[in-house]
Amino acid sequence: MRHFLPLALVCLLGSLLPMAPIAAAQEPPSPVVFTPRPDSEIPAGPFGDLVRKGEKIFTQTGKYAGKYVGNDLTCESCHLDRGRKPYAAPLWGAYVSYPRFRTKNMKVSRLGERIQGCFRFSMNGVAPPLAGDTIRSIVAYSFWMSKGAPVGTPLVGTGMYHMPPTSHKPDPFNGKKVYKARCALCHGADGLGASSGGDVAFPPVWGPRSYNAGAGLAKVGKLAGFIKMNMPLSKGDTLSDRDAWDVAAYVDSQPRPADPRKKS
Ligand code: HEC
Ligand code: HEC
Repeated sequence: MRHFLPLALVCLLGSLLPMAPIAAAQEPPSPVVFTPRPDSEIPAGPFGDLVRKGEKIFTQTGKYAGKYVGNDLTCESCHLDRGRKPYAAPLWGAYVSYPRFRTKNMKVSRLGERIQGCFRFSMNGVAPPLAGDTIRSIVAYSFWMSKGAPVGTPLVGTGMYHMPPTSHKPDPFNGKKVYKARCALCHGADGLGASSGGDVAFPPVWGPRSYNAGAGLAKVGKLAGFIKMNMPLSKGDTLSDRDAWDVAAYVDSQPRPADPRKKS
């Protein structure tokens, strides 16, 4: 017993000490491609029920969480393919990235708090309570989708695409031309989108029923990255970087609801 403790300590130190410098010298891990499981694998039972409820709220947000929504968007309007599409801030990438520090509020946020933020800004609504059904179901859907994803390893397509820095000043005049040629067909020349039979077919990209000025997409760089990889719908990565920047600058120059943090 007298020899046991010091020996254990030596072993512990011996195994820990040399690790630190080696780990510091290592290359950062390369990003891994992750594919979430198909919906058909959502299990039966109470957990599966919560996941399916989360998916419904995600794709038909106005119908299933209407009291928290203040515009014509759904979560899927931006998190495409039911939250599965790489470079459209997929839910499988989100689950394994939280808690995370955010400069937006200068604190370490949990996933539920991050989702509250999208309700407040991207959905121009109000934050559902953290412990309530709405947030719990969306967190469950995100958790299920991330099943099997490695934690602490970067995944290809997490978050939005980061545009490489541009040397030109984004030009809304060229952006307007790009918008007319590549976007107006669906989102309307007036940016207000289009409905059919009371359902939103194409969401508004500006105006009173779109995301507000505090949302992530209200930043030109983030919007350019979203557009570059995802728009025109199903023709992602067909615009040049320059056109993606310019059309983002044009969309961003149009009116939208104010940032709720700036209202008196
Ligand atoms: C107008 C577009 C838009 C809408 C609508 C929207 N979001 Fe987001 N969401 C974003 C953007 C932009 C980000 C930031 C992604 C980044 O910074 O990489 C984000 C981030 C997130 C994240 C964190 C992702 C990550 O990888 O860090 C989650 C989770 C999320 N949103 C959930 C939701 C939910 C749930 C809804 C519906 C209630 C919703 N969002 C509606 C644009 C939107
Ligand atoms: C073929 C139709 C189509 C075209 C063309 C198209 N979009 Fe979209 N866009 C959509 C649809 C549909 C969604 C919502 C996706 C969903 O709900 O699954 C969307 C979502 C968006 C969003 C996020 C939600 C919102 O309303 O703000 C933005 C921003 C956007 N598109 C910008 C553009 C821009 C810029 C272009 C041109 C470069 C473009 N789109 C071209 C159909 C289109």
